[in-house]
Formats: sequence, C-alpha cells, structure tokens
Amino acid sequence: MKQKIIIGNWKNYLGHKESVSLAHSLSELVTKDRTRVMVSPNHLYLNEVNQILSTTNIEVISQNLTSAESKSDTGGITLKNLKEININRSLVAHSETRIREKNPQSILLEIIPIGFPFVLCFEEIKQIPFNTLNDDFEIILAYEPIWAIGTGETASIGHINEIHSDVKSKLSKLGLNIPILYGGSVNPSNCKEILASDNVDGVLVGGASTKYDLFKEIVNSI
Ligand code: 13P
Repeated sequence: MKQKIIIGNWKNYLGHKESVSLAHSLSELVTKDRTRVMVSPNHLYLNEVNQILSTTNIEVISQNLTSAESKSDTGGITLKNLKEININRSLVAHSETRIREKNPQSILLEIIPIGFPFVLCFEEIKQIPFNTLNDDFEIILAYEPIWAIGTGETASIGHINEIHSDVKSKLSKLGLNIPILYGGSVNPSNCKEILASDNVDGVLVGGASTKYDLFKEIVNSI
C-alpha cells in the first residue's frame, strides 16, 4: 500500500489543557513508514503543540492562513506568524472557514507563487482552481462533503471513489499528481475501507482526532 496521510483537525473542540495533553499522548504514538500524520490545533496552541511534537515525525499544521504579508489584518494569521513558530503548512478554505470568510481561497494567489505548502479543502469539484495548482511544492487536496462533516454520515466508498477519480483524472491531464484526502465523519469503523481505496491518499479527521484512542486506531488501521 502506498503512503497515506492522516490529518487530525482538532477544530475548536479542545481547550489549552486538553490540547497539551493530547499532544503529549501523541508524542508516544508510533507510526509506520507508510503513514504520515499531521495535526492541526487551535492557533493559540500551535506553538506549544509543535514544541511538544518536535521530536516526533508528526507534523503540526495551521487551521488557516489569511495573509502572506505582515499587514493590517486584524484577527488574521500571517505567514510570518506561522514561520516564526516553525509551522510549514496550513489548511485552506475549510468549510467552517468559508462560513466566516468571504473568499478564503484568495490566499492561494499569495502562497502558491512562494511555494508555501497547504491542504486545500473542497466540497465540490468546481471549487478547485486547477489552473493555479502545480507540483513544484507539496499541495494536498481534501474532499469534504459538507453534509458529512460532523454528522456521523460518511460518504459511501463509491461516492468517494467517483469524486476522487474525477479530480485525479483532471489533475493528470494537467500533468499533476496531487494527493487527495477524504474528510467527513471518518472514525475507526469506517477508516479501513476508505483508506484501502487507491483513489484515497489519506483522511482528514475532525471529531475522532480529538480523542487519542480513536485517532490512534485510525492511524494504526493502515
Ligand atoms: P468530522 O470528522 O468531525 O466530520 O470533521 C471533518 C472535518 O471537517 C475535518 O476537517
């Protein structure tokens, strides 16, 4: 089986103590070569969680990025903020970010030219800006159907395969090979079937990633 990427998006489920405690538990997690694990805590705890996990191969990534420049961007997160604390990747345009921000994808125009790695979330294929993507640096896509997020209603493997293979064939016509993750109510009971598909390069896990035992089961299911 090729390498799979497992990302835990902690959203805003965890406070400071809980985030630190989960990070300490994760520091004991032994991952296999064929698994790449990333976690995304609340921005306020990024630095501390990153330091706790600095000796592991778990990558800590940001939940959002609003500006590549340091500028008047009240409440935003800039590239400088992330780089100063050694965070080298961000989620972009998560469906929950889309509720707050008018055009969360606009950051791509700033970060693609400078090659800052990101995980672009999409709910519909038409939201993927194919022409702006390249494989000069690591871009990851994540298909997250809105009706599957936090609802316990996972998309069927048939549906996931259909969307992922459609996106993969569009990417391949552009000469691109970009991993595509699935997200939406992934849990220990459904992850095995989802991750077994060749069309699925990994999973983006929300709720289940905030509980160590559940996340560990998902990571170890491969
Ligand atoms: P749930 O796994 O809680 O459905 O969340 C999915 C998600 O939005 C991950 O980014």
